[in-house]
Amino acid sequence: MHAPVMCQAVVELLAVGDGAVCIDGTAGGGGHSAALLERVGARGVVLAIDQDVEAVARLRVRFAADGRCRVEHGNFADMAAIAARQGMGPVDGIVLDLGVSSDQLDTAGRGFSFMRDGPLDMRMNTDSDLTAAEIVNSWDEAALIDLLRRFGEEPRAARVARTVVRARAAGRITGTLELARLVEQATGGRRGPQHPATRTFQALRMAVNRELERLDAGLEAGIGLLKPGGRMAVISFHSLEDRQVKHCFGRHIGRWESLAQGGEVWRGDQPVLARVTRKPRAPDDGEVARNPRARSAKLRVVERMAGEAGAAPTRVAGMREQRRRVTA
Ligand SMILES: C[S@@+](CC[C@H](N)C(=O)[O-])C[C@H]1O[C@@H](n2cnc3c(N)ncnc32)[C@H](O)[C@@H]1O
Repeated sequence: MHAPVMCQAVVELLAVGDGAVCIDGTAGGGGHSAALLERVGARGVVLAIDQDVEAVARLRVRFAADGRCRVEHGNFADMAAIAARQGMGPVDGIVLDLGVSSDQLDTAGRGFSFMRDGPLDMRMNTDSDLTAAEIVNSWDEAALIDLLRRFGEEPRAARVARTVVRARAAGRITGTLELARLVEQATGGRRGPQHPATRTFQALRMAVNRELERLDAGLEAGIGLLKPGGRMAVISFHSLEDRQVKHCFGRHIGRWESLAQGGEVWRGDQPVLARVTRKPRAPDDGEVARNPRARSAKLRVVERMAGEAGAAPTRVAGMREQRRRVTA
């Protein structure tokens, strides 16, 4: 069973109360959904979305007796349409806890882990077509190098790609351990605490699930769904994700820019957000000791500013004061 990461910090910083309407866009084992349900009271609602049909089946069982929880199979990139289908309007709180769950990692047949022998699959949504095996066996060397650099930040991308292309000439590469051994061979084995295949597996998983593309769409959809005063919490597990979250929030937080001719102009997207966490929060030592998977987690929380949707911010004292008030 997946242990939810930074659960208490998420519910406290989302600060949802009685009657709140929330979305858990990455419901997984349901840990964050359950914690939100405890906060929203008898009149509240939690929409629990996951793109993994196996997770959705377990969530339906877990929350079967709770009419306040609505479970939907889908991608958080489509959360506006999913919420509309559920008759939901603007929401008070949204959580995205990115990446794979322990349930997915621990199931060898899903192919996410280089520690367990399984097929090279890595699809979170098994309805989609692209698998890791397809990439490993059919993408040309240049495309593999690009993938390993962009999504894995793998310094030995060229050597890994060359080794894979040579190995597949002798027969299709089909297994997780087979690929992990090839990567070890290409990189010269373990040098630090990280397994040599970590970056390759991360890159493949991100490409198979189009993770960064969906993340951007999900963040924008979530921001658009928030009520004024509503909050969104995002937990990321590696620098590529966190950078994207930071940049997306930054675009909406915006800034006043001085003009050469005098005066100031607002640079930023609508709707406007304010930071709730000035710096990303990390789990405390106790949580990392209990749940090592939490060690690289970073939590960022923002709040949608009050005001007319689509209206440009005006330079009024109240707005700055409000920003100061919500920044923890
Ligand atoms: C880290 S786990 C979440 C665990 C969950 N918070 C809990 O407490 O059990 C991430 C989950 O999000 C799902 N997921 C990842 N990206 C998604 C996306 N773009 N849309 C919907 N679900 C996604 C995965 O299938 C996985 O079940």
